[in-house]
Amino acid sequence: MLVLGIESSCDETAVALLESCADSPQPRVLSSVISTQIPLHRMYGGVIPELASRNHSTNLPVVLREALEQAGRSVHEVDVFASTAGPGLVAALLVGNTAAKALALAAGKPFVAVNHLEGHMLSPFITRAGGLVPHLSLVVSGGHTLLVDVQGVSDYTLLGRSVDDAAGEAFDKVAKMLDLPYPGGPEIDKRAEQGDPARFSFPRPMLHEDHLNFSFSGLKTAVLYTLPRLTASGNPHDLPEQTLCDICAGVRQAIIDVLIHKTLKALRRTGHKVLAVSGGVSCNAALRTQLMECCRRAGVEAVLPPNSLTTDNAAMIAYAGMLRAQHGDFSPLDTPVDPNLKLAGMQTRA
Ligand code: KG4
Ligand code: ZN
Repeated sequence: MLVLGIESSCDETAVALLESCADSPQPRVLSSVISTQIPLHRMYGGVIPELASRNHSTNLPVVLREALEQAGRSVHEVDVFASTAGPGLVAALLVGNTAAKALALAAGKPFVAVNHLEGHMLSPFITRAGGLVPHLSLVVSGGHTLLVDVQGVSDYTLLGRSVDDAAGEAFDKVAKMLDLPYPGGPEIDKRAEQGDPARFSFPRPMLHEDHLNFSFSGLKTAVLYTLPRLTASGNPHDLPEQTLCDICAGVRQAIIDVLIHKTLKALRRTGHKVLAVSGGVSCNAALRTQLMECCRRAGVEAVLPPNSLTTDNAAMIAYAGMLRAQHGDFSPLDTPVDPNLKLAGMQTRA
């Protein structure tokens, strides 16, 4: 089965072609092309939906052609067209979604509307030789921080989530406060490498509470109160470079400590021996190293996608589309996009 996936929910225009293999549960990624709009939105300090949408519509045909060329396939060979239907920016979603539907209609092939979150969640298994198995999923993206018990496609139980800011959002908001460029995660990460994580002790909320929820909004406030104590002006540009790096290291470690603590608790509770980590924050090298070390000690297999599959990409959309198509789960062409799309099959554990 040859699947073409399109992702356009935020500021990346992406197209990928994945082919299922007869003798392996692992698909072949024939191409995964991403055109990022980050430099464009950086000057505004965040994503401007109207600009994102306009740029998707000019970038998509180019990205589509390149993905087909790299895969060495023609659009007539595609068996299934998949695209992100939400959550995301509605005007941005519409571009990729309408293109995928139009291609499916013209080619007379089925269409699958994919939940962006499900794409992230399942993405670690694209590169796992044994394919998808029941596991604990930690999703850490710009919009979501979730712990999910995954038994299979559409068999999800939500164990915990952030009650306020997502982990990526916390990185981005603290970075904004420090007047670092958008997106903040990689900027904080870069400076944290030169910093001392022990110099500032930032809060680790809900760490010792019994539930598996997260809260990251207190970090912003902690940094906000720390700044005036360090410079009379409160202006982050007046901070010595080392102090800035120490703040970044402290913030990064506070986020990592909470993520790891709750993840280990969820692993103990569910008994899962496989942990999959996904979403943009999972390309944070310190988080990856520390998580892998904890998993090694706990005898748990850590499944982490390569960095190219952690931030928004279309391979994850094609993969989720492929798994759904293999279950005969296609979507009618009048399926709407939904900026707040809920994950089908997600139960909440009481
Ligand atoms: O998954 P993603 O590309 O988009 C969403 O679906 O939200 O995640 C983007 C998030 C942003 O908040 C960004 O700051 C964060 O991932 N991020 C990082 C790193 N690279 C990206 N956070 C921490 N460390 C990084 N190296
Ligand atoms: Zn995403």
